[in-house]
Amino acid sequence: MSDLVELKTSLAQSGIDPDLGALLDCMAQACIEIADAVERGALSGTLGALDRANVQGETQKQLDVISNDLLVHALQNSGLACGIASEEEDHAVAIPGGAPYLVLFDPLDGSSNIDVNVTVGTIISVLPAPNSAPNDADFLQPGHRQLAAAYVAYGPSTLLVLTTGDGVKQFTLDRARGAFVLTGSALSVPKQTAEFAINAARQRHWLAPIAAYIRDCVAGETGPRGRDFNMRWIASMVADVHRIMTRGGVFLYPNDHAMIAEGMTGKLRLMYEANPMGWLVEQAGGAASTGEGRILDIVPSGLHQRVPVVLGSADEVAEVEARFAAP
Ligand code: AHG
Ligand code: MN
Ligand code: MN
Repeated sequence: MSDLVELKTSLAQSGIDPDLGALLDCMAQACIEIADAVERGALSGTLGALDRANVQGETQKQLDVISNDLLVHALQNSGLACGIASEEEDHAVAIPGGAPYLVLFDPLDGSSNIDVNVTVGTIISVLPAPNSAPNDADFLQPGHRQLAAAYVAYGPSTLLVLTTGDGVKQFTLDRARGAFVLTGSALSVPKQTAEFAINAARQRHWLAPIAAYIRDCVAGETGPRGRDFNMRWIASMVADVHRIMTRGGVFLYPNDHAMIAEGMTGKLRLMYEANPMGWLVEQAGGAASTGEGRILDIVPSGLHQRVPVVLGSADEVAEVEARFAAP
């Protein structure tokens, strides 16, 4: 298939700023190195956890740190961005003299799955830089200001799914070429679905609207929805979202009574999980909500702020929002 379009060519033809294209290509190359590191896992002795936690208080896997460092070093050497925020960095990392882009990423998402050989990924968001020496506060921009959002899924194939505001494209890593090639030119999330994704083990903690929505889905054909639903939960957001980008579905990681009791505002991070995934889903015709409002309209208050997430097929997101709005 010699007529396949490589990522670099697709970016050049997309009409985006050439520096933004170069930045995205630079990160795609770093993700190919992450794919190699993830694939080698046990062969390199890099599976398993470190005896330290990140700013989130979560134990870091070796590959969390390896992936983070591959992206940070690639960006520092490229000069194609002037600031970095990462799940694995306490604070923003400034890049002196870099181009006016802020890059945010979850370098390895779903890393609890890495030791059991289940798909993991990288999530990327790009924002405009308000100045050339950014600090944490400069990153606190609402998701609708993103210039690019992408994820890479390290699964049976290594896939890059990307938007720069004109729909969503999918690229597959062709290892023979050492490049991502276009394999989907307009991903689209069906408005309707019969598949929900939630960690059902937290059922006893759910807020009433979430409990009502799931109860109605599980009631199936004889219940208020009048049709049967199926459930999937991979516990790797990139994998769950890619399924939804491919065949529809609704993904829920809501806040719940147990998390609220611990002062939490959800599990997933706004800046480098909810915002990029939310924009990708919206650009593919889906919706991304907290259950009570659009994720991309949230004005952030912290670099590692957590939010409730309900995203995917627009009609199902609306069903959840309707239950939050009900008296
Ligand atoms: P990360 O590995 O970057 O911390 O992200 C894990 C997230 C997300 O990928 C996934 O949807 C969710 O955590 C799974 O949470 P549970 O383990 O509670 O199911
Ligand atoms: Mn994650
Ligand atoms: Mn992570």
